Amino acid sequence: MFRLVSRLARTGCSSSTHFGAIRSLSSTATFENIIVDTRGAKANVGLIQLNRPKALNALCDPLMREVNEALDRFESDDEIAAVVITGNEKAFAAGADIKEMLPLDYKDVAAGSFLSHWDRVTRMRKPVIAAVNGFALGGGCEFAMMCDIIYAGENAHFGQPEILLGTIPGAGGTQRLIRAIGKSKAMEQILTGEKMPATEALQSGLVSKIFPVGQLVDEAVKLGEKIGELSPIAVAFAKEAVNISCEVSLKEGLRFEKKMFYGTFATNDRREGMKAFIEKRKANFTNT
Ligand code: CAA
Repeated sequence: MFRLVSRLARTGCSSSTHFGAIRSLSSTATFENIIVDTRGAKANVGLIQLNRPKALNALCDPLMREVNEALDRFESDDEIAAVVITGNEKAFAAGADIKEMLPLDYKDVAAGSFLSHWDRVTRMRKPVIAAVNGFALGGGCEFAMMCDIIYAGENAHFGQPEILLGTIPGAGGTQRLIRAIGKSKAMEQILTGEKMPATEALQSGLVSKIFPVGQLVDEAVKLGEKIGELSPIAVAFAKEAVNISCEVSLKEGLRFEKKMFYGTFATNDRREGMKAFIEKRKANFTNT
């Protein structure tokens, strides 16, 4: 299992070139803008902590590249069942890095496909839980929404304040927020830039649970462990079927679900799960 624990000496956004150089020096990657670790009794939950506290975890390009690298590694590590992404108690992430964006003009962002690599997390087969304390604004809210489940701390605030900067959400906010909370609320958020507190986010379905700030990450890890007890194949199939509902018609989605459901009948885990139920014992899933 790969284990990566790096502490940031500095909080500036270090360049990806520098990051690449560090990786080539060591078999265990060292990250500059995130802290990566494993958690849980079996150390089977990967933890990615966004770590630019002075910039409220603004999602600069090198940080997002490091997140993608960590996700790649957790995805390919058979001992990891789920991933938790979190920030600190003040901020999950206060958005894309405004200082990084300020000098860019249209040709820089359009020709360079600016932010196009942000969605790596949406292609994870393993479940990803966002544990949001503090601000999840702009790209921070969008990044949390790319995860499968959002748990929030009591002090969390979500929002898409891009309109206040004279721009609009650019990492999925206009598309994912409406699916999470409905048109009227999403439109109000996006057109005013107002922040939504955790209680309202819970009420509107953006987050699934709220916890005291200090317990949030542990609760997210417990959720990862709970899912980790199940068949990884079934979890990946279920996740893919749910996620595709946002991309295709109901008819197509139902067809897809049926295929995935049938697919589970080709696995040992499906047979074992049903057998264990009938034999009144805990299933022993083998990921086969
Ligand atoms: N980018 C870069 N730096 C940021 C940042 C961001 N998104 N958000 C905060 N910071 C920096 C501040 O510039 C400040 O740095 P300095 O000390 O060097 O001045 C530091 O973090 C602390 O911020 P504040 O002093 O503003 O802290 P606060 O507690 O008074 O306010 C806040 C907190 C309400 C979150 C406020 O920082 C804020 O409004 N941030 C910007 C939020 C925002 O507009 N996000 C959307 C970005 S655009 C985007 O994300 C596009 C997209 O769709 C991908």
